[in-house]
Amino acid sequence: MSASPFIEFRDVSVAYSRDVTGLDHLSLQIERGEFTFFTGPTGAGKSTLLKVLTREVHHTDGEVRLGGQNLNDFRDSNVHKLRRQMGIVPQNYELLPTKRVWENLAYALRSVGKSRKEVRDEVPRILQQVNIAHRIDAYPHQLSGGEQQRVVIGRALINKPPLLIADEPTGNLDPSQSIEIMELLLGLNSEGMTVLIASHDMPVVERFAKRTVRLEHGRIVAAEAGE
Ligand SMILES: Nc1ncnc2c1ncn2[C@@H]1O[C@H](COP(=O)(O)OP(=O)(O)OP(=O)(O)O)[C@@H](O)[C@H]1O
Ligand SMILES: [Mg+2]
Repeated sequence: MSASPFIEFRDVSVAYSRDVTGLDHLSLQIERGEFTFFTGPTGAGKSTLLKVLTREVHHTDGEVRLGGQNLNDFRDSNVHKLRRQMGIVPQNYELLPTKRVWENLAYALRSVGKSRKEVRDEVPRILQQVNIAHRIDAYPHQLSGGEQQRVVIGRALINKPPLLIADEPTGNLDPSQSIEIMELLLGLNSEGMTVLIASHDMPVVERFAKRTVRLEHGRIVAAEAGE
């Protein structure tokens, strides 16, 4: 058994250019099964932190480990192997507008190499998991924002990932839809998934009293353990 944390940032910096800092010597540990909010004002580095983990952004200093693996050991040609271990809900992600709910998921499943038979089995299972199975034939524009976001989260679950990374998953939602989406993410967490969420929606974040890490200028300025 290894005692190393599931996710570890050690003195990590991201310099986008000489003048633009995404992360500034940030250190952080996250254990398996944790639910963590990253908060802070626009430009604080929330998306950058999540993108370092998904390897959309390369850190320029320090060390990042996930499940004992050093992210620098993943070449760009291998990054799909890293991403298979995580579900990613990008900031402002939009479903394919001309495809129905089930087709959006089927498309994602096919693109990771699932067979037609697997797609037939998996689509209803995933839609049930995110509680939107009753709208399987709808087009995205026929769904509310919260319903669309359920499908987006479903799309992130196609590899049954141990880690879910969601960047502003309630960004365009009204308060009651935001709470429903957070409850969905908490439900996934209670089934064992490690969940990381960037959110500047403080009323929603505070309502759930989970571990909260506040960033400003790429640094951690406050942290609360949560209940
Ligand atoms: N691709 C990029 N190229 C250059 N600079 C970037 C890039 N992405 C982000 N930055 C800069 O890095 C800093 C952190 O940005 P980031 O997107 O991580 O903030 P954020 O906390 O997610 O903000 P928001 O709440 O608006 O989503 C900002 O100063 C931003 O301008
Ligand atoms: Mg962001």
